[in-house]
Amino acid sequence: MTRDEAYELLKKYTESESLIKHALAVEAAMRGYAKKFNEDVEFWGITGLIHDLDYELYPDKHPLEGVKILEENGYPVELIEAVKGHADHTNTPRQPLLAKTLYAVDELSSFIIAYILVRPNKSFEDIQLKSIKKKLKDKAFARGVDRDIIKKGAEELGVDLDEHIMTVADALVEREKELNQMGVSLV
Ligand SMILES: [Fe+2]
Repeated sequence: MTRDEAYELLKKYTESESLIKHALAVEAAMRGYAKKFNEDVEFWGITGLIHDLDYELYPDKHPLEGVKILEENGYPVELIEAVKGHADHTNTPRQPLLAKTLYAVDELSSFIIAYILVRPNKSFEDIQLKSIKKKLKDKAFARGVDRDIIKKGAEELGVDLDEHIMTVADALVEREKELNQMGVSLV
């Protein structure tokens, strides 16, 4: 299983550009945390990239239909358990660090991207923790993002919320530069 194969599988089931960009953002955040935790960057990235594989075609069965597809394609159990566990309603314990991290970065990545999208020129430069936190308090902003899940995710992962926000923000900034060289963008 390579990153390219995972990306192809994702695109086989996903047409929505915003969903692909969300997958890329979660991949970026997972890569950032893998570096921080000294884990397998490629594997953690793939877990992020593929986590919403079934969301477009099977929103009512998400993420269990995705789990089936991943099983059929021979993906590792640890990755599949993390994908299952990122949805609270599956009642899957998030024990491994991989699962905890996926849960912690999913909503937060979306939120930080929403924040970047409203910045002048959608800039990734000089991202300020203070302004992200201000937006988090603004209930009208990115209302689809569940703030409670962001807090719960950081708690489960055992990281301070401010540090967590900046870890994910830095990961998005770093990955955006790499993606730009491949002609892709997170925004
Ligand atoms: Fe997601």
